[in-house]
Amino acid sequence: MNKDYFVIKGLGGKKILKGEIKVNGAKNASLPLMASAIIFNEKGVSFSNVPDIEDTHRMCELMEEIGMSCKLDEKGCVKIFQKGKLKSSLDGEIAKRFRASVILTGPLLAKTGKVIFPHPGGCVIGARPIDLFIDGFKKMGAKVSVEGKNYEIKVSGGNLKGAKIFFKQQSVTATETFVIAGLLAKGETVLENCAMEPEITALCEFLISCGAKISGLNSTTLVIEGGEVLNQISENFEVIPDRIEAGSFLILGALCAKDLKITNCRTSHLSSLLNNLKEAGVKMEIGEDFIHIKNTKKSALKSFDIKTHEYPGFPTDLQAPAVVLLTQAIGEGTVFETIFEGRLNFTEDFVKMGATIQMWNSHKILVKGPTPLKGKDLESPDIRAGLAFIIAGIVAEGESKINNAYYVDRGYEMIEKRLQKIGVDIKRVKG
Ligand code: EPU
Repeated sequence: MNKDYFVIKGLGGKKILKGEIKVNGAKNASLPLMASAIIFNEKGVSFSNVPDIEDTHRMCELMEEIGMSCKLDEKGCVKIFQKGKLKSSLDGEIAKRFRASVILTGPLLAKTGKVIFPHPGGCVIGARPIDLFIDGFKKMGAKVSVEGKNYEIKVSGGNLKGAKIFFKQQSVTATETFVIAGLLAKGETVLENCAMEPEITALCEFLISCGAKISGLNSTTLVIEGGEVLNQISENFEVIPDRIEAGSFLILGALCAKDLKITNCRTSHLSSLLNNLKEAGVKMEIGEDFIHIKNTKKSALKSFDIKTHEYPGFPTDLQAPAVVLLTQAIGEGTVFETIFEGRLNFTEDFVKMGATIQMWNSHKILVKGPTPLKGKDLESPDIRAGLAFIIAGIVAEGESKINNAYYVDRGYEMIEKRLQKIGVDIKRVKG
Protein backbone atom coordinates (compact mmCIF):
# COMPACT_ATOMS: atom_id res chain seq x y z
CA MET A 1 0.00 0.00 0.00
CA ASN A 2 1.56 3.28 -1.06
CA LYS A 3 1.71 6.26 1.33
CA ASP A 4 1.29 8.88 -1.40
CA TYR A 5 -0.75 11.99 -0.82
CA PHE A 6 -2.24 14.76 -2.97
CA VAL A 7 -1.61 18.48 -2.59
CA ILE A 8 -4.25 20.74 -4.13
CA LYS A 9 -4.27 24.50 -4.53
CA GLY A 10 -7.96 25.36 -4.40
CA LEU A 11 -9.83 27.71 -6.72
CA GLY A 12 -11.60 29.55 -3.90
CA GLY A 13 -14.99 29.15 -5.57
CA LYS A 14 -13.90 30.31 -9.04
CA LYS A 15 -15.38 28.46 -12.02
CA ILE A 16 -12.42 28.21 -14.39
CA LEU A 17 -11.80 24.56 -15.27
CA LYS A 18 -12.00 23.85 -18.96
CA GLY A 19 -11.37 21.23 -21.60
CA GLU A 20 -12.32 17.61 -21.96
CA ILE A 21 -12.15 14.75 -19.48
CA LYS A 22 -12.67 11.16 -20.59
CA VAL A 23 -14.41 8.62 -18.40
CA ASN A 24 -12.65 5.26 -17.95
CA GLY A 25 -14.06 1.76 -17.85
CA ALA A 26 -16.01 0.93 -14.69
CA LYS A 27 -14.24 -0.66 -11.75
CA ASN A 28 -17.41 -2.35 -10.54
CA ALA A 29 -18.13 -3.77 -13.99
CA SER A 30 -14.54 -4.99 -14.54
CA LEU A 31 -14.27 -6.94 -11.28
CA PRO A 32 -17.24 -9.33 -11.76
CA LEU A 33 -16.37 -9.80 -15.43
CA MET A 34 -12.86 -10.80 -14.42
CA ALA A 35 -14.20 -13.19 -11.75
CA SER A 36 -16.44 -14.87 -14.32
CA ALA A 37 -13.31 -16.08 -16.19
CA ILE A 38 -13.23 -19.11 -13.87
CA ILE A 39 -16.29 -20.69 -15.51
CA PHE A 40 -14.82 -20.51 -19.04
CA ASN A 41 -12.98 -23.16 -21.04
CA GLU A 42 -9.17 -23.29 -21.38
CA LYS A 43 -9.10 -20.48 -23.97
CA GLY A 44 -10.24 -18.08 -21.27
CA VAL A 45 -11.62 -14.56 -21.74
CA SER A 46 -10.44 -11.08 -22.62
CA PHE A 47 -11.83 -7.62 -21.87
CA SER A 48 -10.98 -4.12 -23.04
CA ASN A 49 -11.45 -0.71 -21.38
CA VAL A 50 -10.38 -2.15 -18.00
CA PRO A 51 -9.14 0.65 -15.70
CA ASP A 52 -5.55 0.53 -14.49
CA ILE A 53 -6.39 0.89 -10.79
CA GLU A 54 -5.38 -0.83 -7.56
CA ASP A 55 -8.54 -2.98 -7.39
CA THR A 56 -8.17 -4.47 -10.89
CA HIS A 57 -4.54 -5.28 -10.01
CA ARG A 58 -5.65 -6.90 -6.73
CA MET A 59 -8.15 -9.00 -8.71
CA CYS A 60 -5.34 -10.08 -11.09
CA GLU A 61 -3.15 -11.06 -8.12
CA LEU A 62 -5.94 -13.04 -6.52
CA MET A 63 -6.72 -14.82 -9.80
CA GLU A 64 -3.03 -15.66 -10.32
CA GLU A 65 -2.87 -17.01 -6.79
CA ILE A 66 -5.67 -19.51 -7.40
CA GLY A 67 -4.18 -20.83 -10.65
CA MET A 68 -5.44 -18.47 -13.36
CA SER A 69 -3.25 -16.39 -15.64
CA CYS A 70 -4.47 -12.79 -15.46
CA LYS A 71 -2.56 -10.03 -17.23
CA LEU A 72 -3.67 -6.42 -17.60
CA ASP A 73 -1.75 -4.59 -20.33
CA GLU A 74 -1.05 -0.87 -20.75
CA LYS A 75 -3.87 -0.54 -23.30
CA GLY A 76 -6.48 -1.56 -20.71
CA CYS A 77 -6.93 -5.12 -22.03
CA VAL A 78 -6.97 -8.04 -19.67
CA LYS A 79 -6.58 -11.66 -20.74
CA ILE A 80 -7.50 -14.37 -18.26
CA PHE A 81 -7.28 -18.15 -18.59
CA GLN A 82 -6.76 -21.18 -16.37
CA LYS A 83 -3.08 -22.19 -16.24
CA GLY A 84 -3.24 -25.28 -14.05
CA LYS A 85 -5.26 -26.91 -11.33
CA LEU A 86 -7.44 -24.41 -9.52
CA LYS A 87 -6.84 -23.79 -5.82
CA SER A 88 -10.03 -23.54 -3.76
CA SER A 89 -8.77 -21.07 -1.17
CA LEU A 90 -8.52 -17.33 -1.59
CA ASP A 91 -5.37 -15.62 -0.33
CA GLY A 92 -6.43 -13.91 2.92
CA GLU A 93 -4.12 -10.92 2.65
CA ILE A 94 -5.33 -9.97 -0.84
CA ALA A 95 -9.02 -10.83 -0.30
CA LYS A 96 -9.13 -8.64 2.81
CA ARG A 97 -8.15 -5.62 0.74
CA PHE A 98 -11.24 -5.40 -1.46
CA ARG A 99 -14.87 -6.41 -1.13
CA ALA A 100 -15.25 -7.64 -4.71
CA SER A 101 -13.00 -10.60 -3.81
CA VAL A 102 -16.21 -12.18 -2.49
CA ILE A 103 -17.54 -12.55 -6.07
CA LEU A 104 -14.87 -15.22 -6.68
CA THR A 105 -16.57 -17.52 -4.16
CA GLY A 106 -19.43 -18.25 -6.60
CA PRO A 107 -17.42 -19.35 -9.64
CA LEU A 108 -14.80 -21.17 -7.52
CA LEU A 109 -17.42 -23.15 -5.61
CA ALA A 110 -19.28 -23.94 -8.83
CA LYS A 111 -16.11 -25.07 -10.61
CA THR A 112 -14.19 -26.89 -7.82
CA GLY A 113 -16.95 -27.85 -5.36
CA LYS A 114 -15.18 -26.05 -2.53
CA VAL A 115 -14.11 -22.58 -1.47
CA ILE A 116 -12.22 -21.33 1.58
CA PHE A 117 -12.08 -17.59 2.14
CA PRO A 118 -11.78 -14.89 4.81
CA HIS A 119 -14.47 -12.29 5.45
CA PRO A 120 -13.93 -9.90 2.53
CA GLY A 121 -12.43 -6.50 3.21
CA GLY A 122 -13.07 -3.25 1.37
CA CYS A 123 -14.11 0.25 2.29
CA VAL A 124 -15.21 0.80 5.88
CA ILE A 125 -18.63 2.26 5.11
CA GLY A 126 -20.83 -0.04 7.18
CA ALA A 127 -21.12 -3.57 8.55
CA ARG A 128 -21.04 -5.26 5.11
CA PRO A 129 -22.12 -8.77 6.14
CA ILE A 130 -22.11 -11.76 3.75
CA ASP A 131 -25.23 -13.54 5.01
CA LEU A 132 -26.89 -13.35 1.57
CA PHE A 133 -23.97 -15.30 0.10
CA ILE A 134 -24.01 -17.94 2.84
CA ASP A 135 -27.81 -18.40 2.65
CA GLY A 136 -27.69 -18.62 -1.15
CA PHE A 137 -24.92 -21.22 -1.22
CA LYS A 138 -26.82 -23.34 1.34
CA LYS A 139 -29.92 -23.20 -0.88
CA MET A 140 -27.76 -24.48 -3.74
CA GLY A 141 -26.83 -27.53 -1.67
CA ALA A 142 -23.55 -26.41 -0.08
CA LYS A 143 -22.40 -27.02 3.51
CA VAL A 144 -20.93 -24.02 5.26
CA SER A 145 -18.52 -24.02 8.20
CA VAL A 146 -17.38 -20.83 9.85
CA GLU A 147 -14.33 -20.52 12.07
CA GLY A 148 -13.85 -17.00 13.38
CA LYS A 149 -13.80 -14.85 10.27
CA ASN A 150 -12.96 -17.70 7.89
CA TYR A 151 -15.47 -19.64 5.82
CA GLU A 152 -15.27 -23.08 4.25
CA ILE A 153 -18.02 -23.98 1.80
CA LYS A 154 -18.30 -27.40 0.18
CA VAL A 155 -20.71 -29.17 -2.13
CA SER A 156 -20.91 -32.92 -1.81
CA GLY A 157 -20.60 -34.57 -5.19
CA GLY A 158 -18.97 -31.37 -6.46
CA ASN A 159 -21.99 -29.81 -8.19
CA LEU A 160 -24.15 -26.94 -7.01
CA LYS A 161 -27.88 -27.46 -7.49
CA GLY A 162 -30.09 -24.89 -9.16
CA ALA A 163 -32.30 -23.18 -6.56
CA LYS A 164 -34.82 -20.45 -5.93
CA ILE A 165 -33.11 -17.69 -3.95
CA PHE A 166 -34.91 -14.63 -2.62
CA PHE A 167 -32.45 -11.93 -1.54
CA LYS A 168 -33.88 -10.24 1.55
CA GLN A 169 -31.88 -7.18 0.53
CA GLN A 170 -30.88 -6.08 -2.97
CA SER A 171 -27.15 -6.63 -3.28
CA VAL A 172 -24.92 -5.91 -6.26
CA THR A 173 -22.12 -8.41 -5.63
CA ALA A 174 -24.48 -11.13 -4.32
CA THR A 175 -26.56 -10.88 -7.52
CA GLU A 176 -23.39 -11.11 -9.63
CA THR A 177 -22.00 -14.04 -7.62
CA PHE A 178 -25.15 -16.14 -7.98
CA VAL A 179 -25.60 -15.35 -11.67
CA ILE A 180 -22.12 -16.77 -12.29
CA ALA A 181 -22.54 -19.71 -9.88
CA GLY A 182 -25.95 -20.58 -11.39
CA LEU A 183 -24.39 -21.08 -14.80
CA LEU A 184 -22.49 -24.18 -13.66
CA ALA A 185 -25.23 -25.50 -11.34
CA LYS A 186 -27.47 -28.47 -12.17
CA GLY A 187 -30.84 -27.14 -13.33
CA GLU A 188 -32.45 -23.75 -13.10
CA THR A 189 -31.65 -20.99 -10.63
CA VAL A 190 -34.19 -18.25 -9.98
CA LEU A 191 -32.88 -15.13 -8.24
CA GLU A 192 -35.54 -12.84 -6.79
CA ASN A 193 -35.16 -9.27 -5.48
CA CYS A 194 -31.93 -8.86 -7.43
CA ALA A 195 -30.11 -5.56 -7.70
CA MET A 196 -30.37 -4.01 -11.18
CA GLU A 197 -27.19 -1.90 -11.40
CA PRO A 198 -25.88 -1.46 -14.99
CA GLU A 199 -22.75 -3.41 -14.01
CA ILE A 200 -24.94 -6.48 -13.40
CA THR A 201 -26.66 -6.09 -16.77
CA ALA A 202 -23.24 -5.71 -18.43
CA LEU A 203 -22.08 -8.95 -16.79
CA CYS A 204 -25.23 -10.78 -17.94
CA GLU A 205 -24.90 -9.39 -21.48
CA PHE A 206 -21.30 -10.61 -21.66
CA LEU A 207 -22.23 -14.08 -20.38
CA ILE A 208 -25.17 -14.30 -22.80
CA SER A 209 -22.84 -13.32 -25.68
CA CYS A 210 -20.84 -16.41 -24.71
CA GLY A 211 -23.84 -18.74 -24.83
CA ALA A 212 -25.19 -18.44 -21.27
CA LYS A 213 -28.94 -18.73 -20.80
CA ILE A 214 -30.01 -15.87 -18.53
CA SER A 215 -33.36 -14.11 -18.72
CA GLY A 216 -34.91 -11.16 -16.89
CA LEU A 217 -32.16 -8.60 -17.53
CA ASN A 218 -32.86 -5.14 -16.06
CA SER A 219 -35.47 -6.60 -13.73
CA THR A 220 -35.33 -7.86 -10.15
CA THR A 221 -35.86 -11.51 -11.15
CA LEU A 222 -33.14 -13.32 -13.05
CA VAL A 223 -33.51 -16.89 -14.29
CA ILE A 224 -30.32 -18.81 -15.03
CA GLU A 225 -30.14 -22.11 -16.84
CA GLY A 226 -27.25 -24.22 -15.53
CA GLY A 227 -24.97 -25.85 -18.07
CA GLU A 228 -21.40 -26.41 -19.18
CA VAL A 229 -18.33 -24.16 -19.00
CA LEU A 230 -18.57 -21.22 -21.37
CA ASN A 231 -16.61 -20.23 -24.45
CA GLN A 232 -15.95 -16.57 -25.35
CA ILE A 233 -16.82 -16.09 -29.00
CA SER A 234 -15.61 -12.59 -29.80
CA GLU A 235 -12.54 -11.31 -28.00
CA ASN A 236 -12.09 -8.19 -25.88
CA PHE A 237 -15.60 -7.58 -24.57
CA GLU A 238 -15.66 -3.86 -23.74
CA VAL A 239 -16.22 -2.77 -20.14
CA ILE A 240 -18.95 -0.11 -19.77
CA PRO A 241 -17.93 3.44 -18.75
CA ASP A 242 -17.77 4.17 -15.03
CA ARG A 243 -20.97 5.99 -14.11
CA ILE A 244 -19.59 6.93 -10.69
CA GLU A 245 -16.49 8.52 -12.21
CA ALA A 246 -18.69 10.31 -14.79
CA GLY A 247 -21.03 11.55 -12.06
CA SER A 248 -18.12 12.81 -9.94
CA PHE A 249 -16.67 14.74 -12.90
CA LEU A 250 -20.12 16.16 -13.53
CA ILE A 251 -20.34 17.43 -9.96
CA LEU A 252 -16.82 18.88 -10.24
CA GLY A 253 -17.88 20.58 -13.47
CA ALA A 254 -21.04 22.02 -11.92
CA LEU A 255 -18.93 23.46 -9.10
CA CYS A 256 -15.74 24.63 -10.77
CA ALA A 257 -15.92 24.60 -14.57
CA LYS A 258 -16.23 27.36 -17.08
CA ASP A 259 -16.53 24.98 -20.00
CA LEU A 260 -16.06 21.23 -19.42
CA LYS A 261 -16.94 18.30 -21.67
CA ILE A 262 -17.17 14.89 -20.04
CA THR A 263 -16.76 12.26 -22.72
CA ASN A 264 -17.03 8.49 -23.10
CA CYS A 265 -19.82 8.15 -20.57
CA ARG A 266 -23.27 6.54 -20.82
CA THR A 267 -25.69 9.25 -19.83
CA SER A 268 -28.58 6.78 -19.66
CA HIS A 269 -26.87 5.38 -16.52
CA LEU A 270 -26.86 8.79 -14.84
CA SER A 271 -30.55 9.75 -14.85
CA SER A 272 -30.89 10.23 -11.11
CA LEU A 273 -27.92 12.63 -10.75
CA LEU A 274 -28.77 14.48 -13.96
CA ASN A 275 -32.26 15.06 -12.65
CA ASN A 276 -30.87 16.59 -9.44
CA LEU A 277 -28.38 18.74 -11.32
CA LYS A 278 -31.14 20.12 -13.54
CA GLU A 279 -33.12 20.89 -10.37
CA ALA A 280 -30.01 22.69 -9.04
CA GLY A 281 -29.92 24.85 -12.18
CA VAL A 282 -26.81 23.40 -13.86
CA LYS A 283 -26.75 24.18 -17.58
CA MET A 284 -25.80 21.07 -19.52
CA GLU A 285 -25.87 19.77 -23.05
CA ILE A 286 -26.50 16.06 -22.70
CA GLY A 287 -25.64 13.64 -25.51
CA GLU A 288 -25.77 9.86 -25.46
CA ASP A 289 -22.11 9.59 -24.46
CA PHE A 290 -21.09 13.10 -23.39
CA ILE A 291 -22.16 15.95 -21.16
CA HIS A 292 -21.05 19.51 -21.77
CA ILE A 293 -21.24 21.97 -18.87
CA LYS A 294 -20.97 25.71 -19.36
CA ASN A 295 -21.06 28.01 -16.35
CA THR A 296 -20.97 31.78 -16.23
CA LYS A 297 -19.80 33.90 -13.27
CA LYS A 298 -23.45 34.29 -12.36
CA SER A 299 -24.27 30.55 -12.39
CA ALA A 300 -25.63 29.72 -8.94
CA LEU A 301 -26.62 26.32 -7.62
CA LYS A 302 -29.87 25.59 -5.79
CA SER A 303 -29.96 22.95 -3.08
CA PHE A 304 -31.83 19.64 -3.36
CA ASP A 305 -32.54 16.56 -1.24
CA ILE A 306 -30.88 13.21 -1.79
CA LYS A 307 -32.01 9.73 -0.82
CA THR A 308 -29.57 7.03 -1.86
CA HIS A 309 -31.22 4.00 -3.37
CA GLU A 310 -30.47 0.92 -5.43
CA TYR A 311 -30.28 1.60 -9.20
CA PRO A 312 -31.92 3.47 -10.85
CA GLY A 313 -32.13 5.59 -7.67
CA PHE A 314 -29.40 7.93 -6.47
CA PRO A 315 -26.13 5.90 -6.16
CA THR A 316 -24.62 5.69 -2.68
CA ASP A 317 -21.22 5.90 -4.42
CA LEU A 318 -22.05 9.47 -5.56
CA GLN A 319 -23.37 10.61 -2.22
CA ALA A 320 -20.04 12.04 -0.94
CA PRO A 321 -19.28 14.16 -4.05
CA ALA A 322 -22.90 15.36 -4.03
CA VAL A 323 -22.48 16.59 -0.44
CA VAL A 324 -19.65 18.87 -1.66
CA LEU A 325 -22.07 20.33 -4.17
CA LEU A 326 -24.72 20.93 -1.48
CA THR A 327 -22.20 22.90 0.62
CA GLN A 328 -21.99 25.35 -2.31
CA ALA A 329 -25.70 25.44 -3.18
CA ILE A 330 -28.21 28.02 -1.96
CA GLY A 331 -30.64 26.64 0.61
CA GLU A 332 -30.98 23.48 2.68
CA GLY A 333 -30.59 19.93 1.42
CA THR A 334 -31.05 16.71 3.36
CA VAL A 335 -29.04 13.60 2.57
CA PHE A 336 -30.57 10.27 3.53
CA GLU A 337 -28.03 7.45 3.11
CA THR A 338 -30.15 4.31 3.05
CA ILE A 339 -27.60 1.69 1.90
CA PHE A 340 -24.62 1.92 4.29
CA GLU A 341 -24.77 3.06 7.91
CA GLY A 342 -21.19 4.38 8.08
CA ARG A 343 -21.17 6.43 4.94
CA LEU A 344 -21.73 9.92 6.29
CA ASN A 345 -18.85 10.03 8.78
CA PHE A 346 -16.62 11.87 6.29
CA THR A 347 -18.90 14.95 6.59
CA GLU A 348 -17.09 15.92 9.84
CA ASP A 349 -14.13 16.84 7.64
CA PHE A 350 -16.27 19.13 5.49
CA VAL A 351 -17.38 20.88 8.69
CA LYS A 352 -13.69 21.43 9.52
CA MET A 353 -13.36 23.02 6.07
CA GLY A 354 -16.19 25.46 6.85
CA ALA A 355 -19.34 23.62 5.73
CA THR A 356 -22.55 23.86 7.76
CA ILE A 357 -23.70 20.29 8.20
CA GLN A 358 -25.89 18.89 10.97
CA MET A 359 -25.70 15.17 11.59
CA TRP A 360 -29.18 14.00 12.57
CA ASN A 361 -28.19 10.35 12.87
CA SER A 362 -25.81 7.91 11.16
CA HIS A 363 -28.07 7.85 8.08
CA LYS A 364 -29.17 11.49 7.80
CA ILE A 365 -27.60 14.93 7.52
CA LEU A 366 -28.75 18.46 6.72
CA VAL A 367 -26.47 20.67 4.63
CA LYS A 368 -26.96 24.45 4.64
CA GLY A 369 -25.33 26.42 1.87
CA PRO A 370 -23.57 28.15 0.41
CA THR A 371 -20.51 28.31 2.67
CA PRO A 372 -16.96 29.02 1.49
CA LEU A 373 -14.59 26.11 2.16
CA LYS A 374 -11.02 26.45 3.44
CA GLY A 375 -8.20 24.09 2.44
CA LYS A 376 -7.32 21.47 5.08
CA ASP A 377 -5.22 18.41 5.79
CA LEU A 378 -7.53 15.39 5.34
CA GLU A 379 -7.34 11.59 5.50
CA SER A 380 -9.21 9.90 2.69
CA PRO A 381 -11.49 7.34 4.43
CA ASP A 382 -12.60 5.33 1.36
CA ILE A 383 -12.56 5.40 -2.44
CA ARG A 384 -15.58 7.61 -3.05
CA ALA A 385 -15.17 10.01 -0.11
CA GLY A 386 -11.50 10.26 -1.17
CA LEU A 387 -12.50 11.73 -4.53
CA ALA A 388 -15.07 13.95 -2.77
CA PHE A 389 -12.23 15.33 -0.62
CA ILE A 390 -10.28 16.11 -3.79
CA ILE A 391 -13.34 17.93 -5.20
CA ALA A 392 -13.76 19.84 -1.92
CA GLY A 393 -10.04 20.74 -2.04
CA ILE A 394 -10.47 22.11 -5.58
CA VAL A 395 -13.49 24.21 -4.54
CA ALA A 396 -11.78 25.52 -1.37
CA GLU A 397 -9.65 28.59 -0.80
CA GLY A 398 -6.01 27.71 -0.06
CA GLU A 399 -4.09 24.47 0.05
CA SER A 400 -5.43 21.01 0.93
CA LYS A 401 -3.49 17.85 1.57
CA ILE A 402 -5.38 14.60 0.96
CA ASN A 403 -3.63 11.68 2.62
CA ASN A 404 -4.28 8.00 1.83
CA ALA A 405 -4.06 8.49 -1.94
CA TYR A 406 -4.11 4.69 -2.05
CA TYR A 407 -7.89 4.71 -1.54
CA VAL A 408 -8.40 7.03 -4.48
CA ASP A 409 -6.01 4.88 -6.55
CA ARG A 410 -8.19 1.85 -5.78
CA GLY A 411 -10.95 3.32 -7.93
CA TYR A 412 -9.60 6.06 -10.20
CA GLU A 413 -6.80 5.79 -12.74
CA MET A 414 -4.09 8.49 -12.51
CA ILE A 415 -6.60 10.98 -11.21
CA GLU A 416 -4.12 13.84 -10.70
CA LYS A 417 -2.88 13.69 -14.31
CA ARG A 418 -6.42 13.77 -15.70
CA LEU A 419 -7.46 16.64 -13.43
CA GLN A 420 -4.31 18.64 -14.25
CA LYS A 421 -5.33 18.58 -17.93
CA ILE A 422 -8.55 20.50 -17.20
CA GLY A 423 -6.75 23.10 -15.10
CA VAL A 424 -6.70 21.69 -11.56
CA ASP A 425 -3.57 22.51 -9.53
CA ILE A 426 -3.03 19.08 -7.97
CA LYS A 427 0.14 17.08 -7.47
CA ARG A 428 0.94 13.67 -6.06
CA VAL A 429 3.67 13.49 -3.43
CA LYS A 430 5.29 10.08 -3.06
CA GLY A 431 5.03 8.88 0.54
N1 EPU B 1 -25.83 -6.72 2.45
C1 EPU B 1 -26.24 -7.60 3.42
N2 EPU B 1 -25.81 -8.90 3.34
C2 EPU B 1 -25.02 -9.34 2.34
C3 EPU B 1 -24.62 -8.44 1.33
C4 EPU B 1 -25.05 -7.13 1.41
O1 EPU B 1 -26.96 -7.22 4.35
O2 EPU B 1 -24.69 -10.53 2.33
C5 EPU B 1 -26.27 -5.32 2.54
C6 EPU B 1 -25.11 -4.34 2.67
O3 EPU B 1 -24.64 -4.26 4.00
C7 EPU B 1 -25.74 -3.05 2.19
C8 EPU B 1 -26.70 -3.54 1.10
O4 EPU B 1 -26.85 -4.94 1.31
O5 EPU B 1 -26.48 -2.46 3.23
C9 EPU B 1 -26.25 -3.31 -0.30
O6 EPU B 1 -24.90 -3.69 -0.44
P1 EPU B 1 -24.36 -4.43 -1.73
O7 EPU B 1 -24.16 -5.86 -1.40
O8 EPU B 1 -25.18 -4.07 -2.91
O9 EPU B 1 -22.94 -3.77 -1.87
P2 EPU B 1 -21.70 -4.49 -2.48
O10 EPU B 1 -22.15 -5.44 -3.51
O11 EPU B 1 -20.80 -4.95 -1.40
C10 EPU B 1 -21.36 -2.80 -4.46
C11 EPU B 1 -20.25 -1.90 -4.91
C12 EPU B 1 -20.11 -0.75 -3.93
C13 EPU B 1 -21.44 0.01 -3.87
C14 EPU B 1 -22.57 -0.95 -3.50
C15 EPU B 1 -23.94 -0.31 -3.54
C16 EPU B 1 -18.79 -3.42 -6.05
C17 EPU B 1 -17.50 -4.14 -6.10
N3 EPU B 1 -19.02 -2.68 -4.98
O12 EPU B 1 -20.97 -3.25 -3.18
O13 EPU B 1 -19.11 0.10 -4.44
O14 EPU B 1 -21.35 1.03 -2.92
O15 EPU B 1 -22.58 -2.07 -4.39
O16 EPU B 1 -24.19 0.20 -4.80
O17 EPU B 1 -19.58 -3.53 -6.99
C18 EPU B 1 -17.15 1.39 -4.36
O18 EPU B 1 -17.00 1.09 -5.56
O19 EPU B 1 -16.45 2.25 -3.78
C19 EPU B 1 -18.18 0.69 -3.60
C20 EPU B 1 -18.22 0.68 -2.27
